[in-house]
Amino acid sequence: MTDILIHQEAGISTITFNRVDKKNSLTAAMYACLADTLEAAATDDATRVVVFQGHETIFSAGNDIADFLNTPPTAGDAPVFRFLRAISTFPKPLVAAVCGPAVGIGTTLLFHCDLVYAGDNAAFSMPFVNLGLCPEAASSLLVTQMMGHHRAAEALLLGEPFMAEAALEVGLVNRVVPPTEANGLAQAVARKLAAKPMASLVETKRLMKKPQAALVQAHMAEEGASFGRMLREPAAREAFGAFMEKRKPDFSQL
Ligand code: COA
Repeated sequence: MTDILIHQEAGISTITFNRVDKKNSLTAAMYACLADTLEAAATDDATRVVVFQGHETIFSAGNDIADFLNTPPTAGDAPVFRFLRAISTFPKPLVAAVCGPAVGIGTTLLFHCDLVYAGDNAAFSMPFVNLGLCPEAASSLLVTQMMGHHRAAEALLLGEPFMAEAALEVGLVNRVVPPTEANGLAQAVARKLAAKPMASLVETKRLMKKPQAALVQAHMAEEGASFGRMLREPAAREAFGAFMEKRKPDFSQL
């Protein structure tokens, strides 16, 4: 599909978010394509490393709000939940290059990547509360573990954005570079990984993730159930309606 580009070369599968006119927001069809790609790449010997990238000006504005309003993901097999399961259990190395805004799942997917490179224009935000929702992708667990409770509360309760340098400081990104260099750096790192023995990479990643692999899946399932329920409740309807009508939401009665 044209909104998601897949390029396969020399053991590296590069997934590009390519819906720049809508700020690379993600529809159910895009999530299905991402899930299919990761599920196939997990067992395909031709793929040794997967790279996620966006555009130099925008990584992703998160869920497509209009799409979410029309077809809210309620069942566990909804494309967004399939994608989250696929990325959180992906056995091979995942590398990301992030420039510009990374909103909602645009940030939370990074907690499941192994190496993240950011342009100095990267802006991370998880405004779930501001949308009448709750975190997804096990972010309520993983953000707190990475940043500590107080900084996680700024990100998740206040929904405040943070820039590339702050992301570097808390360990969400490995390096900050000019936006023109981020994709190239991610590819260079992917090439290094692709040259290493695959079984060692996979076993090392498995061992690194094992201590809380079951916890992450259980937490994500609980978040998903709450998220699906809250999508249909008045606060989210108000927040999404306000976004579509380009006005501020009014939560004063909620
Ligand atoms: N869902 C659907 N459409 C979106 C979108 C989203 N998440 N984010 C942006 N768009 C659309 C806008 O509606 C606009 O469409 P239009 O040109 O038809 O009016 C277009 O993309 C450009 O967006 P705009 O807001 O004008 O760009 P910006 O550069 O001023 O701001 C963002 C970029 C990412 C900061 C801003 O678009 C934003 O905050 N988006 C919403 C993020 C969000 O809440 N995501 C949900 C997380 S669960």
